[in-house]
Order: sequence, then C-alpha cells, then structure tokens
Amino acid sequence: MDPPTDLAAGAAEAYLPGERSLEAMADAAQACRGCDLWRRGTQAVFGEGARDAPLLLVGEQPGDREDIEGRPFVGPAGLLLDRVLEGAGIPRDQAYVTNAVKHFKWEARGKRRIHQRPRQDEIDACGPWLAAEIEVVQPRVLVCLGATAAQALLGKSFRVTKQRGTILEDTGLAPYVMATVHPSAVLRSRSSDERRAGEEALVREFAAVARLLIDG
Ligand code: URA
Ligand code: SF4
Repeated sequence: MDPPTDLAAGAAEAYLPGERSLEAMADAAQACRGCDLWRRGTQAVFGEGARDAPLLLVGEQPGDREDIEGRPFVGPAGLLLDRVLEGAGIPRDQAYVTNAVKHFKWEARGKRRIHQRPRQDEIDACGPWLAAEIEVVQPRVLVCLGATAAQALLGKSFRVTKQRGTILEDTGLAPYVMATVHPSAVLRSRSSDERRAGEEALVREFAAVARLLIDG
C-alpha cells in the first residue's frame, strides 16, 4: 500500500481544540479556516454518533442538505446508507458517520448548488479533523465510502473499483478497514435495475462488516 501523507498534519491542525472530545471538536470546526471552503459552506458539518461506536463511516463531504442541516448523511445519500445498514442488520447507533472534508464545496447552476469534488489540497487541509475523530472513536471497523475517503485514508494508489469490499487488517487505522463505492454513485445509476444491483452489492459488503462487529 502507498500510505497517505500524515493525515494529522494538514492546515486544520491549528484549529483543533486542546480538549479532544467530539463535542469540543465539533464546536471548534465551525471556526476552522484551514482551507478556503469555509467561505462557501453554510457551516462545518462535523461527524455524528457515539464516541464508542464500533463502526466509523467516512464519506467525501457534506452535500446540499447536510450543509443546510449541519448533520452528515441526512440527504438522499444518507437515506440510501440507512437502508443499506438496515439491510445488513447494523443498528444505526453502531455507526459514527463523518466525511473526509467538513465543508460543502459547490458551484451554482441556476438556482441549484451542484456538488464539486474537493481538491487534494483541501482533503489534506481537513485531514486533522478526521484523524482526531478516528483517534477518539477508535472503531473496530472503519469503512471508506468512495474514492475520496479511500484515498485520503489508504493512499492515492488505492482503487475502489478494484479493491472494494476487501477487508484490510494492516492499515494502522482500525483493526478492520474496508472501502467501497459512495452511496451517491449508486444513486446516479442509469437504470433502476443497475441501482437495485448497486444497493444489493453494498448490503452484501456491509453484511460482512456486520459479522466483524459481532465476532470477537
Ligand atoms: N455525501 C457525503 O459524502 N457525505 C455526506 O454527508 C452526504 C453526502
Ligand atoms: Fe477547515 Fe476542513 Fe472546512 Fe477547510 S473544509 S475550512 S480544512 S473544516
């Protein structure tokens, strides 16, 4: 594996609070100026869930709904994620959910705000928040949703298309790490058959995660 540059070393590091509780960090993230994305987003959308959650899920960045509500995965991708977790038999309260980047990056198209992929320097800048969340939660299983999260945590040579669903045990991030596609990619399917198949594939992968949560 090609390990990423130190996740904890990005520019957001200067904004981390002395007290490393999730509450203190969520507050402090509102004042983060580690990259320019704070100018465009309504607010920082910090991770959400129990500090002792055995499962930590990392997405890319908040979407339009998340930006408005201030909570991760509450829009269409979040609804799909909830269905997948339920289908795999994972209670929602077992999961701490967060994103690689905490501010919504978008461009205007008419009245709509269209998601833009964060750049590498923005992902790097935001890394300290994610590193601190992982350190507090110390999940048994960490799942990367999509290439942005996977490459932030597993290195730029990681290919979700080739390695999705594989359980990794030697990452130093958590005892078990898996990467798969982002729920938004499933939502962009060209047909309802493709979409159903995409959702079923995610349920199968999360069923394997569920077994790791139970065993041991
Ligand atoms: N997509 C993400 O990556 N994260 C969210 O919180 C919502 C949509
Ligand atoms: Fe800070 Fe991350 Fe927001 Fe950039 S995206 S301002 S690094 S919280």
